[in-house]
Amino acid sequence: MLAASPLLASPRLLPKPLADLLGTGDVSEKMFAGGLEEFQQGSDVIASPDQALNVMDFEPAARKAVPPAHFGYLATGVDDDATVQANREGYSRIEIRARRLVDVTSVDMSRTIFGTMWSTPIVLSPVSAQKAFHPEGELGVAKAARAKGHLMMLSTVATASIEGAIAASGGRVWQQLYATDVWEVGRSIVKRAESAGSPAIVLTVDIQDGSNRETLFRAQRVDKRECAGCHPSGYSPFARGKSASGQASRGFADYVARKPMFDGLDVSKVTALHPVNMNWDFVKRLRDVVTVKLLIKGIVTREDAQLAVEHGVDGLVVSNHGGRAEETLRPTIESLPEVLEGVAGKVPVIVDGGVRRGTDIFKALALGATAVGIGRPHSWGLAAFGQAGVEAVLEILRRELRTIMRQAGTTSVDQITRNYLAARPS
Ligand SMILES: Cc1cc2nc3c(=O)[nH]c(=O)nc-3n(C[C@H](O)[C@H](O)[C@H](O)COP(=O)(O)O)c2cc1C
Repeated sequence: MLAASPLLASPRLLPKPLADLLGTGDVSEKMFAGGLEEFQQGSDVIASPDQALNVMDFEPAARKAVPPAHFGYLATGVDDDATVQANREGYSRIEIRARRLVDVTSVDMSRTIFGTMWSTPIVLSPVSAQKAFHPEGELGVAKAARAKGHLMMLSTVATASIEGAIAASGGRVWQQLYATDVWEVGRSIVKRAESAGSPAIVLTVDIQDGSNRETLFRAQRVDKRECAGCHPSGYSPFARGKSASGQASRGFADYVARKPMFDGLDVSKVTALHPVNMNWDFVKRLRDVVTVKLLIKGIVTREDAQLAVEHGVDGLVVSNHGGRAEETLRPTIESLPEVLEGVAGKVPVIVDGGVRRGTDIFKALALGATAVGIGRPHSWGLAAFGQAGVEAVLEILRRELRTIMRQAGTTSVDQITRNYLAARPS
């Protein structure tokens, strides 16, 4: 009787994991957020980038545009997708203290990182296999980054090369690194990126093999297309219930066959994209071979931030992989302050995860982030409308950031400090 109650059946009172919604056709990160947001967004799917009122409007358009399994890959978190939701909720627990009577005629959103000035502190976080979302793939993202003056990070398992991305972006691409479990393969990717002109290597450390991406697995069930043509080996770094490291090496070779950063590399001994034995000795070894800036992505604690600085790392990305690594329930915006304490101002700190509004960016900057990354939002824009969609997503976030900077009485990003924040009473 209880279970049949319409009250308990309401998604507002009994939030369903994103996974459960796949079968009903209601897949949307918005569905987590409850009724008000859903009502505010409306149910219409935008038909062109200019119809979007905010970046969330691109999500249903992306869902409409891509096959279910690919959308499931984009949307998924791990377990109950609760950390995906937590990343969003973290921002709603922080209030902004707006100052008045400041001349905000001129607002400077630019931010300099490692000596390069970017038009805003909004960074495009690395997202793998973007041709799965739109034929323009990472090159569409790179062109949008160039058009708007944003920093882009390219995934190791991108469907475009670092050379192609740098050419498309005008030289603004950092190379993200999945080191694999064969040192020489990771080293070769680093050297190739350096030769291509990438000014930074971003080592991702937050994924071990076998993240439990149930929403993806359910989406794969819903997708009735024949997948073997594009995914011949069945290898997946997120293989359900098993570690990829137990799989035959041919599987990995097939997996990276359409991933240009592995072109020409001997991957016959690679069994895992994300090595389970990576430790600080690995960072030390990597530091010795990386001649450009070296950042670590996926740090969420003070202790690891301190260790990273001690190991000569040049910068950090506070990230939980958009809630796709493990179900911690801890928003990255809540990890940010302790990471900043750990680095003690010695290196720049970027944060990503759940950033969907200009006010989120303002809050992260106010806490002390150097820059703020977005993952799914730019991929929604890409999936729905290619480069134009990515540009529109960036434009909306820029507009929203400018608005809150004006409203709060700040005329440059350096002025955005903790003085502009207050904790929301619980
Ligand atoms: C589909 C998808 C693929 C991703 N691929 C990578 C990757 O190859 N390397 C990496 O370091 N992070 C990867 N990430 C994590 C993002 O870089 C970023 O940390 C995360 O998306 C930020 O959260 P948000 O999606 O809520 O903005 C991926 C995220 C998504 C959604």
